[in-house]
Amino acid sequence: MSIEHTQLEAERLLRSAGILPVVTIHTLEQARETCAALLRGGIPAIELTLRTPIAMEALSMLKAELPGIKIGMGTVVTPRQLDECVKRGADFLVTPGTSAAMAKLFAQAPIPTVPGGATPTEFLSLMELGFRVCKLFPANAAGGLNMLKGLHAPLPELKLCPTGGMNTENAPEFLKQPNVACIGGSWMVNLKWIEAGEWDKVEAASREAAAIVRSVRG
Ligand code: 3PG
Repeated sequence: MSIEHTQLEAERLLRSAGILPVVTIHTLEQARETCAALLRGGIPAIELTLRTPIAMEALSMLKAELPGIKIGMGTVVTPRQLDECVKRGADFLVTPGTSAAMAKLFAQAPIPTVPGGATPTEFLSLMELGFRVCKLFPANAAGGLNMLKGLHAPLPELKLCPTGGMNTENAPEFLKQPNVACIGGSWMVNLKWIEAGEWDKVEAASREAAAIVRSVRG
């Protein structure tokens, strides 16, 4: 698949999700129950971070057991991780930032990639390779709404997934920006709830997040 095709698919996927929970888990059960609660709450896609040793195995398990949820693997920073995520059936890839070498590999990947950046220069480098859908990270620290507005004027074709510092209060304003495909955040998958098995809390927060997307985008 060409980068034009995978980027169109990335935009379609992120736009239809609206909100992308950033999920970190330590056990397969946590992965299964968290995703089941997100689905019950109306959230159709996640970023599953590669920050824990079990994350790769969780990807395989989720693809086999919960095919209804799209799995974007996050924190993909090495060629080996990229290959393994593709082999295990990841639906898309997300990165917090992107080295020049990794950007070239992502541009050739057979699945959609949403590479991270935080400055106009970084986004321009990614756009030279054909990327049009990127993650703005860490969004609030990088300037938040003002940064999004600033990027939109010179780079109107760039669509972003701001992540880092999003919450129920600021989510509507971010979602209203014309260059926002979706927003990412961890507030509905609080690690304390996951570790305590409080799936009802994950479900309720997901329902609230999905309602925010509907209220802004219809
Ligand atoms: C992360 O790195 O954990 C994500 O960017 C989520 O950020 P948040 O916890 O501010 O939502």
